[in-house]
Amino acid sequence: MFTALILTYIGAYVVGLYVIGSLWSVLELAISYLTPYFNPTEVYPLWKKYGNWAVVTGCTDGIGKYYALELAKKNINIVLVSRNPEKLKDVAQEIEKHGVKTKIIVADFSQGPEVYQRIEDELKEIPVGILVNNVGVQYEYPMPLCEMPTSKAMEMINVNVVAVTRMSRMLLPGMEARGRGAIVNVSSGSELQPHPMWAIYGASKVYVRNFTRAIRHEYAPKGIYVQHLSPLFVSTKMNNFSKKLLDGSLFVPDAETYARSAVNLLGRVQNTTGYWLHGIQYTFYKLAPEWARIKIGQLMLKDFRSEYMSNNVAKTK
Ligand SMILES: NC(=O)c1ccc[n+]([C@@H]2O[C@H](COP(=O)([O-])OP(=O)(O)OC[C@H]3O[C@@H](n4cnc5c(N)ncnc54)[C@H](OP(=O)(O)O)[C@@H]3O)[C@@H](O)[C@H]2O)c1
Repeated sequence: MFTALILTYIGAYVVGLYVIGSLWSVLELAISYLTPYFNPTEVYPLWKKYGNWAVVTGCTDGIGKYYALELAKKNINIVLVSRNPEKLKDVAQEIEKHGVKTKIIVADFSQGPEVYQRIEDELKEIPVGILVNNVGVQYEYPMPLCEMPTSKAMEMINVNVVAVTRMSRMLLPGMEARGRGAIVNVSSGSELQPHPMWAIYGASKVYVRNFTRAIRHEYAPKGIYVQHLSPLFVSTKMNNFSKKLLDGSLFVPDAETYARSAVNLLGRVQNTTGYWLHGIQYTFYKLAPEWARIKIGQLMLKDFRSEYMSNNVAKTK
């Protein structure tokens, strides 16, 4: 009798933790939307809270471009860091229409450590309040590890892992000195489990997740907020391997819709998918055991690989 009671309590405790852990992302989204109504003293606008300059990496397309535009609409000046000078000029012009200043830094993060000294020199006079570590690259199509050339694999690690690390190290000391600042690190739903056929990409996002959550604790006492932003699929050129993803759907928003939602969560929640329907998807994925998630992910990527292969064969005919 006593043993049965103890086991019931342990079972209830474990199930409770599991359910709370799984529903956390949805709960955080709800909290973020309700905060302004229930906490009128919340210090807004963003420029007041963190400072009026933001740096956005990988900002000439997709999520980064629209994230930068959304910040500009909130009166934040933007330093645009990306690899294509022409696209940078175009985005800067678009952003300046919102009455803010921009600065362009041309940098190709795939080149590794050599780009950072120049970025640091260019940022010396700018009190950066918000850093958005958005830059990231994906596989051209899902493939096993050795099908990818070594140079591409190293480039992916430079862009997805080294950039977030070096940019954070570069800008944290200034934020610390000013006693305020925000860092947004863009991870991915791929952080949830190992991804056969996307091994490096998936692993790079696990790095981003754990790195982000660790530095948050290191720098919270200095007044710095660090957000872990984890989108699921967004319709951008990153997903060129699949027409289904590029076409978009309710669960695959375009970059503008996604970024508008994500910027509204800046400063309000610490870990988020950035988009409410992604929050619900993320919660359901987490309810499945890891072995099942690996299997489901593998089937999905096999499907994308076949789609890519058949389209490319069709093109070469
Ligand atoms: N799209 C999704 O489904 C999805 C899902 C989860 C997470 N994410 C994450 O979200 C972030 C943004 O992805 P996205 O979909 O917006 O990608 P995207 O549309 O391909 O845009 C990537 C941006 O990064 C720039 N970039 C790429 N390689 C670079 C390099 N070596 N040096 C400097 N800049 C470089 C690109 O420049 P160009 O304009 O010159 O190409 C572009 O501005 C990434 O971290 C990605 O992992 C995306």
